[in-house]
Amino acid sequence: MAESPAVSARALVKDFGPNRALDGLELRAEKGQVLGVLGPNGAGKTTAVRILTTLLRPDSGHATVAGHDVRSEPHAVRRSIGLSGQYSAVDQNLTGYENLHMVSRLYGMSRSRAAARARELLDDFKLGEAADRPAKGYSGGMRRRLDLAGALVAEPPVVILDEPTTGLDPRGRMDTWQVISELVRDGTTVLLTTQYLEEADALADDIAVIDHGRVIARGTSGELKSLVGGERLGMVADTAHELPRVAEVLEEVGTGSVRVDERALRARVAVEAGSRALTEAVRRLDALGLEAHDIELSRPTLDDVFLTLTGETAAADEEEQRDGESARPPSEVRSAERDG
Ligand SMILES: Nc1ncnc2c1ncn2[C@@H]1O[C@H](COP(=O)(O)OP(=O)(O)OP(=O)(O)O)[C@@H](O)[C@H]1O
Ligand SMILES: [Mg+2]
Repeated sequence: MAESPAVSARALVKDFGPNRALDGLELRAEKGQVLGVLGPNGAGKTTAVRILTTLLRPDSGHATVAGHDVRSEPHAVRRSIGLSGQYSAVDQNLTGYENLHMVSRLYGMSRSRAAARARELLDDFKLGEAADRPAKGYSGGMRRRLDLAGALVAEPPVVILDEPTTGLDPRGRMDTWQVISELVRDGTTVLLTTQYLEEADALADDIAVIDHGRVIARGTSGELKSLVGGERLGMVADTAHELPRVAEVLEEVGTGSVRVDERALRARVAVEAGSRALTEAVRRLDALGLEAHDIELSRPTLDDVFLTLTGETAAADEEEQRDGESARPPSEVRSAERDG
């Protein structure tokens, strides 16, 4: 029989009153893997994390972490995980060092071991200089890093990170990515939630795209990207009158349907060979006597994923789409091993 997965969720359902936060959620992370759970605001990410970390009971379904059942063996689950929540567990009145020292002591380390571990983590997270200042004076990004460091104190086999880089500046994001990559090199299993396709792409072996509490697509980042398409070419027309013609040119050089934002006069399309498509678009606009500005090539975003998979933008951008019953078929990028 195959080794049990490090994290497994089967048919998880959770209602908050009339609101179904999880609607048959399925997740699976093998040992030593990074599973990225990608979804917009309200998709159910934090609810899933709370269930996997035993902070919340599912209404139905089944979940295990490190082989332990979240319902019947919550203590064993807690011993196996490090958790960094969307909402920080940092004690504002303590210094960075004191925070980590305290957590280390809570895990039963000796004073000297706790001190060494705290300093080590502060260095890893580029908090060495701020180590002896109270956390209340930290920037949001520093606090977030401190919280993340706290989750790693006991070197747990499974680390669960709920939007680890939301609110961080690009530098803080890169540092955090680096730490996560190092964890994985050491054999730790990581489940991380994110709203950034780029982040899931950079870190995750396997990505589950979730919406309305269920998985709508699943695969490696490569599989997801080939489904969603490559770069996007976007530009802004000079006038509303010219917008349809700009969109037409994009249609010609692109690989999918053009997305038009009439208010912003912006048109956007997926392209295969980015810079060649860009040059070609500009050439064609020129030949038509049209001008466009803010011409840019960018990587696909979560919104692009959603648009491709569901024909709608992410719920976060819409006015309460999530009230409506959605009957979206799950689009399995790769066949899920349901009976594994
Ligand atoms: N304690 C609660 N009481 C009532 N509704 C809740 C509660 N927690 C979550 N919900 C609802 O469940 C759904 C999923 O919420 P959840 O926090 O899991 O989403 P999320 O993916 O973490 O979103 P975000 O990206 O904003 O953190 C949302 O519609 C939310 O309003
Ligand atoms: Mg959340």
